[in-house]
Amino acid sequence: MAALVLRPFAVSDEAAARAAQDELAADDFMFLLEEFDPTEPWAAYLDRLSQRARGEDLPADRVPADLLAADVDGVLVGRSSIRHELNDWLLNYGGHIGYGVRPGFRRRGLATRILELSLRRAADLGIERALLTCDDGNVGSVAVIERCGGILENVVEGPPGEAPKRRYWIQTAPFRAGVTCP
Ligand SMILES: CC(C)(COP(=O)(O)OP(=O)(O)OC[C@H]1O[C@@H](n2cnc3c(N)ncnc32)[C@H](O)[C@@H]1OP(=O)(O)O)[C@@H](O)C(=O)NCCC(=O)NCCS
Repeated sequence: MAALVLRPFAVSDEAAARAAQDELAADDFMFLLEEFDPTEPWAAYLDRLSQRARGEDLPADRVPADLLAADVDGVLVGRSSIRHELNDWLLNYGGHIGYGVRPGFRRRGLATRILELSLRRAADLGIERALLTCDDGNVGSVAVIERCGGILENVVEGPPGEAPKRRYWIQTAPFRAGVTCP
């Protein structure tokens, strides 16, 4: 399979990213993050993503974060959100890294590869231990996190109306050195 890369979203991603947003709604997962407004012009949304990565004009409940496209040979297959720091909500429920893979590309090891590359990016950002969380019943995500060496700290009650969350920690240094998950 061609190499997967994580890169910023581009003007040319608009149609595929909007399609992915609709596809992942079936999983109750916001491909383009909670603050995506489908009526906003794509270029304005891209500007907001760049600002967020630079930590500019952040809403009070947000931290600097990257939203990166997962690309295989020019095809948008998924995404990763990498938060540069944790606030209370992220520490309890959201973690440093959140990823999703489009339904047509699942069970090919892509989420595992996205997590590896996200951990490398986290190391570059100075995050020594990354927090990964997922719903207690999300068997796919549990498998991906545990493949990449996640150490379970605990399972906590979720936010109101949501499933309990599993909270894992992963040391990032090995990923900077090029370690891969099995
Ligand atoms: C969870 C998700 C990211 C997995 O993506 P993926 O690319 O299919 O994952 P991988 O191919 O890397 O899977 C690695 C392993 O996880 C396990 N796995 C993945 N999906 C699974 C599923 N639906 N059921 C059971 N096991 C699963 C398997 O052991 C798999 O290895 P195998 O295919 O060799 O058996 C994807 O299903 C998704 O985007 N779901 C919706 C969004 C989401 O839940 N994101 C995570 C939020 S914490």
